[in-house]
Amino acid sequence: MKSSSAIVHPSPTTTDESSRHFINKRVIDFTMFSLLFVGFLYILVSIPFKDDSLFSSLKSHYNLSTTYNMIVYRDELEAILAETATENKTVIIAVVNKAYVEGDKSMLDLFLDSFWLGDDTRGLTDHLLIVAVDQTAYEFCMFLKLHCYKLETDGVDFDAEEMFMSDDFIKMMWRRTLFLGDVLKRGYNFIFTYNMIVYRDELEAILAETATENKTVIIAVVNKAYVEGDKSMLDLFLDSFWLGDDTRGLTDHLLIVAVDQTAYEFCMFLKLHCYKLETDGVDFDAEEMFMSDDFIKMMWRRTLFLGDVLKRGYNFIFTDTDVMWFRNPFLRLSPNETIDLQISTDKFNGNEWSQANKINTGFYMIRSNSKTIALFDAWYAKKDNSSRMTEQDVLVMLMHEGLFRGLGLRVKFLNTLFFSGFCQTSRDVRVVVTVHANCCRGISTKLTDLTAVIHDWKRSKNSSANETSMFVWSQHRACIISMRHRG
Ligand SMILES: *[C@@H]1O[C@H](CO)[C@@H](O)[C@H](O)[C@H]1NC(C)=O
Ligand SMILES: *[C@@H]1O[C@H](CO)[C@@H](O)[C@H](O)[C@H]1NC(C)=O
Ligand SMILES: *[C@@H]1O[C@H](CO)[C@@H](O)[C@H](O)[C@H]1NC(C)=O
Ligand SMILES: *[C@@H]1O[C@H](CO)[C@@H](O)[C@H](O)[C@H]1NC(C)=O
Ligand SMILES: *[C@@H]1O[C@H](CO)[C@@H](O)[C@H](O)[C@H]1NC(C)=O
Ligand SMILES: *[C@@H]1O[C@H](CO)[C@@H](O)[C@H](O)[C@H]1NC(C)=O
Ligand SMILES: *[C@@H]1O[C@H](CO)[C@@H](O)[C@H](O)[C@H]1NC(C)=O
Repeated sequence: MKSSSAIVHPSPTTTDESSRHFINKRVIDFTMFSLLFVGFLYILVSIPFKDDSLFSSLKSHYNLSTTYNMIVYRDELEAILAETATENKTVIIAVVNKAYVEGDKSMLDLFLDSFWLGDDTRGLTDHLLIVAVDQTAYEFCMFLKLHCYKLETDGVDFDAEEMFMSDDFIKMMWRRTLFLGDVLKRGYNFIFTYNMIVYRDELEAILAETATENKTVIIAVVNKAYVEGDKSMLDLFLDSFWLGDDTRGLTDHLLIVAVDQTAYEFCMFLKLHCYKLETDGVDFDAEEMFMSDDFIKMMWRRTLFLGDVLKRGYNFIFTDTDVMWFRNPFLRLSPNETIDLQISTDKFNGNEWSQANKINTGFYMIRSNSKTIALFDAWYAKKDNSSRMTEQDVLVMLMHEGLFRGLGLRVKFLNTLFFSGFCQTSRDVRVVVTVHANCCRGISTKLTDLTAVIHDWKRSKNSSANETSMFVWSQHRACIISMRHRG
C-alpha cells in the first residue's frame, strides 16, 4: 500500500490560538484514534506485499462479526458487497475523497500500482471496494472499473479540500464508522486499509510543489543558529549543492523546515521551499545545548513531522545541514523500491545489511509505505519513555529490539566510502557523495572544519585525474578537539 494519511495535521495556527487548537486536536486525535482502531489493527496484514496469510489470519480475528450475521438486506450496498467479497465474505475497503484521485499520478493510482507490483496481490483488487465520499472520487473509481460505492452523508459535500477539524470532517468520520459497522452487521469481514483521505493544507501544498516526479523530497530542518553568522551552516550547505557534481538542480526538491521565525524568514529570503514547523509554546531559536530539554523536544517534534510526511505518501531524504552534498545521492542510493530505508553510518562494518552498523540519523532516505509509517509511529511512541536519549538512540534501541525485522523493513546501511563523515572519512574523493560533520560538537567547530572540506573539494575538482587518486582530505582538527572535551 503506497500512501496513507490517518493522522493528518492541520496547518499550524498562531500561538495565541494554540490552546484551543490543542484541545481541538486532542478531541480529533481521540476521535480519529477510536475510529481508526479497527483499521489500524489490520494495517500490517493489509500490506499488499506478501499476503499469503491474509485471509487465514482474518478468519480467526473476525469471529465476532459473524455473530451479527442475522439480518439480510438487499440494497445497493448489499449487492456491491456480495459482488466484491471473497468466497469467505471478506472485502478490502478503502475510503477515498477527491484529493486522493487528483493529480498526474494520484494517490489512488499509486495504491493500485502497489497491487500490480506486489507478490501475489493482483487478484486482490477483485475484492477491493472503493468507498467514495464525494462525486469526483466516485466517478474516477467508476472510470477505473473498480468496485465503487458512493457513501452519502446528509447534506454534506465532502469534496472541499481544507476541512480537517471542521464539522463536516467530524461528520464524515462518524459516517464512515457507521458505514463500517453496517458492513459488519451484514456479515462481511473487511480489511480496512489505512485512512486514505487526503486533506490539502499548507504542508500538502509545499510537499507537492517540492517533490520530484517520484514523490520524493529532500528535507532539512533548521533553526536560527543555523542561519546566523558571516557564513552560516545553511550557506555552507547550499554552497555544497552549488559546487557539487550534478547537485544544483536538487535544490528544487529541497524543503527547508524552519523551527523558528528567523530561520523561516532567512529561508524565504533565499527563495527556497520553506515550511514553518510550529511547536506549542517552545521557541527553538537558540543553539540548543545538546541534550537540553528543548533540544530533545525539538528532535521529537521533528520525528513527528517526518512521520506525517510519510503518511502523506511522500518519500524523503532527510539530511542535516552539516552534511555537504557533493554528488547526486539518487544516483548512488538503491532505486529498488523494496528497500524501505537507506541510512548513513558513523562507522561502516563492510556489510550493508548488517544491523551491527553504527547508524547516524543525519542522512537517510526512506520510502513512504505502511511499514515505514509503522516505524515512525513506534519510534515516536517512545518519546515519553526515553528520558536522556536522543531520537537516534531510541531508533538504535528499537532496531536492536528487533523492530525492523518485526515490521519486515528492508534496511540498507550506507557505506562511508560514499556517504562519509568525520567519524570515518571517505577514502576516495572520486566517488564520495556526502560528507557529514559527525563526531563533532558545536556549530562553530563544524563550520570551521566543513569550510576546510569545501576547500578540499574545490582543490580536488581542479586537479588532474592522477592527483585525485592520491587525494587526501585535510584533518578536521577542530572537531577532533571538540570531541576530546566532551562533557
Ligand atoms: C476460504 O475459506 C476456506 C476454508 O476456511 C479456505 O480453504 C479458503 O482458502 C478461503 N478462501 C479465501 C479466498 O480466503
Ligand atoms: C472462532 O470460533 C471457533 C468456533 O466457535 C473457535 O474454536 C475459535 O477459537 C474462535 N476464534 C476466536 C479467535 O475467537
Ligand atoms: C523516478 O523513478 C524512475 C523509475 O523508477 C527513475 O527512472 C527516475 O530516475 C526517478 N526520478 C527521480 C527524479 O528520482
Ligand atoms: C529489488 O530487490 C529484490 C529483493 O532483493 C529483488 O528480488 C528484486 O529483483 C529487486 N528489484 C530490482 C528492480 O532490482
Ligand atoms: C518504559 O521503559 C522501561 C524501561 O525501559 C520499561 O520497563 C517500561 O515498560 C516502559 N514503559 C512503557 C509504557 O513503555
Ligand atoms: C587550478 O589549477 C590551475 C593549474 O593547476 C591553477 O593555475 C589554478 O590557480 C587552480 N585554481 C584553484 C582555484 O586552485
Ligand atoms: C600518474 O601517476 C603514475 C604513478 O604515480 C605515473 O607513472 C604517471 O606518469 C602519472 N601520469 C600523469 C599524467 O601524471
